[in-house]
Amino acid sequence: MVDLLQVTQLPPFLTERLKKEFTLHNFMNLADPEGLLDKIAPKIRGILAGGMKGPDANLINRLENLEIIASFSVGFDATDVLAAQARGVVVTHTPEVLTGDVADLAMTFILMAPRRIGEAERFLRSGRWLEGRMDLGTTVRGKRLGILGLGRIGKAVARRAEVFGLNINYHDIKPMGDLPYHSYPSLLELAGASDILLVACEGGAANRRLIDGAVLTALGPKGFLINTARGPIVDQPALVLALRDGTIAGAALDVFDDEPAVPEELMAMENVILTPHIASSTHETRRAMGDLVYDNLRNYFDGKPVLTPVPPQK
Ligand code: 8YV
Repeated sequence: MVDLLQVTQLPPFLTERLKKEFTLHNFMNLADPEGLLDKIAPKIRGILAGGMKGPDANLINRLENLEIIASFSVGFDATDVLAAQARGVVVTHTPEVLTGDVADLAMTFILMAPRRIGEAERFLRSGRWLEGRMDLGTTVRGKRLGILGLGRIGKAVARRAEVFGLNINYHDIKPMGDLPYHSYPSLLELAGASDILLVACEGGAANRRLIDGAVLTALGPKGFLINTARGPIVDQPALVLALRDGTIAGAALDVFDDEPAVPEELMAMENVILTPHIASSTHETRRAMGDLVYDNLRNYFDGKPVLTPVPPQK
């Protein structure tokens, strides 16, 4: 059986299925990872990775017979794809199958933050309703949604947001062709023209800290920031400051800098919705992602083309 190194947690239905046809080696939380590699490195032909944890260049280059990295995620920033592709190692990911659920969470956030839904629930549960009505929220109808990154997920959110009466604008580094949405040439200009700014671009080094203090200032004191993409795209300390001093009105975040650690300051804020990286976490989508990871590996080792390769990165 082909030997695979598992560097991240995966759903049991997937590991059980894989174990029938592959030998899986656990590479998580080991006391002596080097010791294990000394024993098994030459046997490893594939790595099982994920959106929060993937192999770095050291690990990739330590595995001389590595052929494929299959990531249980659409985002591949946790894997050093450049190092892998430089060696001819195929990298696969799970696009499309999670687009709908991620877009649903983003749309939920777009409604929740201005309508103060998190705060409203805490208000009721803590008994404060018995003392009076809660302050008003803000309607989303007629507001301007700025989307940073109009890829598969960004477009899916735009379609949902149209139904809720939002006006859609975007900024993307790629030309998007003929779309019914207005394109802004820079993120700063988009932020200045947004009531709600959604981060929907890829993670990775090129997009690190794109949302900085200047962008948050441009979004302004009535603006909301939504992030269902990757934590490091936002300058998290700058965001905490902006939320604290009223530079922006609020935020809804599914992703963070140093997951699963979330700053205490964010947790204490009423005007912030926080969820633990759950955008793709439904039974249906996780099943489809797992099936795609399996199909990519099966195809590869049967000598067929993989279904969803990560395109060559520069
Ligand atoms: C997963 C993700 O939560 O697809 C991605 O890029 O970040 C998420 O779908 C993650 O891969 C689970 O490890």
